[in-house]
Amino acid sequence: MRFFIHTYGCQMNVRDSEAVAAMLEAAGHEHAAAEQDAELVIVNSCTVRDMAERKAVGKCGNLIAAKEGRGKSRSARSAAEGCVKVVGLMGCAVKRMGADVFKSLPGLDFAVGPRRFGMIPRLVERVLAGERRILELPDADEVPVGLDAHPDVRRGANGFACFQSYVTVLLGCDNRCSYCIVPDVRGHEYSRPAREVVAEVASLAARGVKEVCLLGQSVLRYGRRNPAWGECDAPSPGGFHEPFPRLLEALNATPGLERIRFTSAHPGGCTDELVRAYRTLPRVCRHLHLPVQSGSDRVLKEMGRHYTRAEYLAAVAKLRAFDPEFAVTTDVIVGYPGETEADFEATRSLMEEAGFDNAFVFKYSPRPGTRAAALPDDVPTEEKERRDQVLLADQQRRGLERNSRLVGTVRKVLAEGPSLRNSARWSGRDSGNRIVAFEPKGQIAPGTLVSVRIVEAHPQILIGEMQESGCA
Ligand code: 5AD
Ligand code: SF4
Repeated sequence: MRFFIHTYGCQMNVRDSEAVAAMLEAAGHEHAAAEQDAELVIVNSCTVRDMAERKAVGKCGNLIAAKEGRGKSRSARSAAEGCVKVVGLMGCAVKRMGADVFKSLPGLDFAVGPRRFGMIPRLVERVLAGERRILELPDADEVPVGLDAHPDVRRGANGFACFQSYVTVLLGCDNRCSYCIVPDVRGHEYSRPAREVVAEVASLAARGVKEVCLLGQSVLRYGRRNPAWGECDAPSPGGFHEPFPRLLEALNATPGLERIRFTSAHPGGCTDELVRAYRTLPRVCRHLHLPVQSGSDRVLKEMGRHYTRAEYLAAVAKLRAFDPEFAVTTDVIVGYPGETEADFEATRSLMEEAGFDNAFVFKYSPRPGTRAAALPDDVPTEEKERRDQVLLADQQRRGLERNSRLVGTVRKVLAEGPSLRNSARWSGRDSGNRIVAFEPKGQIAPGTLVSVRIVEAHPQILIGEMQESGCA
């Protein structure tokens, strides 16, 4: 069957969708370039905020309407012109909704929670054999199959980049932050054995991948809950003892690999060893996404984040001490229950002190079953919106300020391809994950490392001149 996957949510979902695409291809199905050409359409859902869940469920509803020939909305009509026969829902919203998913979506053929995506090829067979409304909900400790399935990266198949790849290293989350539904839907922490990760990255690099991004909800906790090293228990040349820096050290030696990134992090994991790994392992990119959520000690305590504002700032200072250009990005929630104007101002000032290179701001959304959902959602929507806008305006100014310091520097950029806005320019990213646009010189291929001298700074992008063709 020709299939298409719509992905909502975070990088973890993007990675799960890729694995499903690879498994469906291995089972003889064919990836469709567009939804209209697909007979099997799968929606990979997110539930981190109410709106995210609504989007995925709404999309699924439209597809089902098209499948049943009763398309009303515009998107259902366009899908109806297509040939959709089977509709499946996967991911976080399925686990949150459980069997209720079929109350909202009675025409759904199958629904699969996060750790069971490996069953999808088999579920498609069962649907083709006549079964309907199949529900697969994973247990919190389940180990998925298919974690290492990748589409054919040499071809850049399925529209996936052929020189960058996500690699899941840590599943689930055991930090029970008061507002967050992720531990309920993605289950307990499970670290993949290091030898498995090392082999997966080596195989990707041998197939032309230049950059990997290691994924985990709290990735620095890799190997802390369950032994992760397994048979890979070789001595660490750098003398690392903690599992995550050891993993970085092992991956740093992968032939052909240029860059290692990882996300997302909790400041508790910013140990001296991690800083030493950043400093001494040349392929490890100098960027950390370190969600802070709030700058108010009172709110941080209520959220159960297990750090204070001062501890958070100390972690950032530690990273910037050995490299002032080290990029730190963050997530912030505005309008948490009981967040006062003073709490909000504390977040504002923390963001200024931390000097974030980029920030994502989210309006608090109560999630059923979380501790915070029992508290009154008492910050009015308009006030959440105002706080959101204030932080975004601050960040635009701060982004410009931070980027302006880089004018005149020469940065190594992994070229990605022609820029979407201006096809005469290419864009890529520097080690700090900053977007850099430049005019290519000579023939360069996506995935080439080039040197770019920065001539202009904007809040979200740097413009530069490529120094020479070929590898930097
Ligand atoms: N409401 C708003 N934002 C949330 N996040 C997680 N849970 C919620 C919620 N209930 C945000 C956090 C997290 C990011 C992925 O989503 O900032 O870091
Ligand atoms: Fe959404 Fe969180 Fe699930 Fe990612 S892990 S898809 S952000 S609910």
